[in-house]
Amino acid sequence: MYSEKVMDHFMNPRNQGEITDADGVGEVGNPTCGDIMRIFLKISNDVITDVKFQTFGCGAAIASSSMATELIKGKTLKEAWDMSNKAVVEALEGLPPAKVHCSVLAEEGIHKAINDYRIKNGLEPWKEEGGHHHEHEEAGDEE
Ligand code: FES
Repeated sequence: MYSEKVMDHFMNPRNQGEITDADGVGEVGNPTCGDIMRIFLKISNDVITDVKFQTFGCGAAIASSSMATELIKGKTLKEAWDMSNKAVVEALEGLPPAKVHCSVLAEEGIHKAINDYRIKNGLEPWKEEGGHHHEHEEAGDEE
């Protein structure tokens, strides 16, 4: 039921671990399943120079965090902020519908880590665009 990409990232997660001197840390949890994800960012001149994750959760959450860290490494904060869970799911060549919410954790964790960095540096935290940016269906999510 999982794509090869998902299995690959689940079995061999990229960027797993912790950055002890991270510039931004985001921790999110899904209250329904109880799974937890932490994202650590190293940031230099607005660019994500390193990223690691710790996920205490299901296989889809691990694969999503692994793929998400790959997607945002080397990107600007804005680019990373704009990466939706949909992009993660696409890069994973799909997740079963019941597992799409797991990829939302990665998006939320990255947002939290970015805002953690912004707040620590005296910047306005960015706002989640109102409502649901992470739809569960395939429909385009452009406003
Ligand atoms: Fe909890 Fe996947 S079931 S994150």
